[in-house]
Amino acid sequence: MARILGIESSCDETAAALVEDARRILSNVVSSQIDVHRKYGGVVPELASRAHLERIVPVVREACERAGLGYGEVDAIAVTQGPGLIGALLVGLTYAKAMAWALGKPLIGVNHLEGHVHAVLLEEKQKGAQAHTIEFPVVALVVSGGHTALYHVTRTLLPNGSDGFRYHYRLVGSTVDDAAGEAFDKVAKHLGLGYPGGPVIDRLAERGNPNTVAFTRPRIRHGRPHDFSFSGIKTAVVRYVERTGLGEEAERRAAFLRADPQTSPAELTSAHTRNLVASFQKAVVEDLVERTVAAADELGAQAVFVSGGVAANSLLRRTFTAECAKRGLPVFYPSVALSTDNAAMIAAAAYPKFLAGEFDDLELNASASLPLGV
Ligand code: KG4
Ligand code: ZN
Repeated sequence: MARILGIESSCDETAAALVEDARRILSNVVSSQIDVHRKYGGVVPELASRAHLERIVPVVREACERAGLGYGEVDAIAVTQGPGLIGALLVGLTYAKAMAWALGKPLIGVNHLEGHVHAVLLEEKQKGAQAHTIEFPVVALVVSGGHTALYHVTRTLLPNGSDGFRYHYRLVGSTVDDAAGEAFDKVAKHLGLGYPGGPVIDRLAERGNPNTVAFTRPRIRHGRPHDFSFSGIKTAVVRYVERTGLGEEAERRAAFLRADPQTSPAELTSAHTRNLVASFQKAVVEDLVERTVAAADELGAQAVFVSGGVAANSLLRRTFTAECAKRGLPVFYPSVALSTDNAAMIAAAAYPKFLAGEFDDLELNASASLPLGV
């Protein structure tokens, strides 16, 4: 049995978790900095690093307390090495290294994107899935505020007879400009809907007509066949707002929300804006689903994984479920808590490395653009 302490600080959540055998979550503590960054309409890297510094020690302590474990009962310390904001990453990494040294425990650096993929496996194992329940190869979409990437994932049994796997990733597509979550956030900011944009748009779109504004599908000329692009649709929304005079409503709403951030933007939003938001969401979701399912067909995937903050989107889940069902293709998502940034997914992704004895030394460095796969 292995109890791994995960630490995550790549963006604007300070998180620590204890996970047993990548299967049982003993604790999962997330301290969100949304209130720190809200008034800027996006994450301010310098403020993020400072907030991580203030929070990292109590968050790790709370994770151990909630799990009912002393530091000495932890078998390994896993930490996000990248990609992410370099100053933010360094806070988690430095603390993880200090703990590993002080406690004499192994240190395991984890790629944040691999964490998002393992969030799906952790969710299924928590529900009782056994090692071979999910068939591979898998096509995994990681879709968040910082990333939109599609991986072909295979796995092989470890040669040491431990019943563990080694996971192999091939990047088959990624965004050539904005991440999908970034498009949600920028559109919400432009419409004065507050931050982060994804959850607000998700809620508002439920009360709008998604068939009112037609957006053209992006054409990507020089990319991989499964690449994505979201900056065009963001610009199209800006143009639509200019053309139809919706900007004044957006300015008033933004001013109101600055004065009282607790107000629900829905109270201040016209049917015209709700229809625009619903049409935008539908276009982004259909694009994500069509490209992912086409890649799964072409690559002979046995299942589809969808994870990252945008995987919390209700229309995205409904559309993936419907399209995959048509093809008899199983589709898996983490719970909402495991979709957005958290440290349980980091501890889970470290478990196969723990079984393989793949540990890092104290020279491990953070990398803002750490790639996953080739
Ligand atoms: O994975 P995450 O917590 O952090 C990153 O690694 O980026 O994802 C945050 C992103 C934000 O862009 C946020 O607007 C988006 O996920 N998001 C959503 C929803 N909930 C969060 N986007 C669409 N619909 C949602 N329900
Ligand atoms: Zn993330």
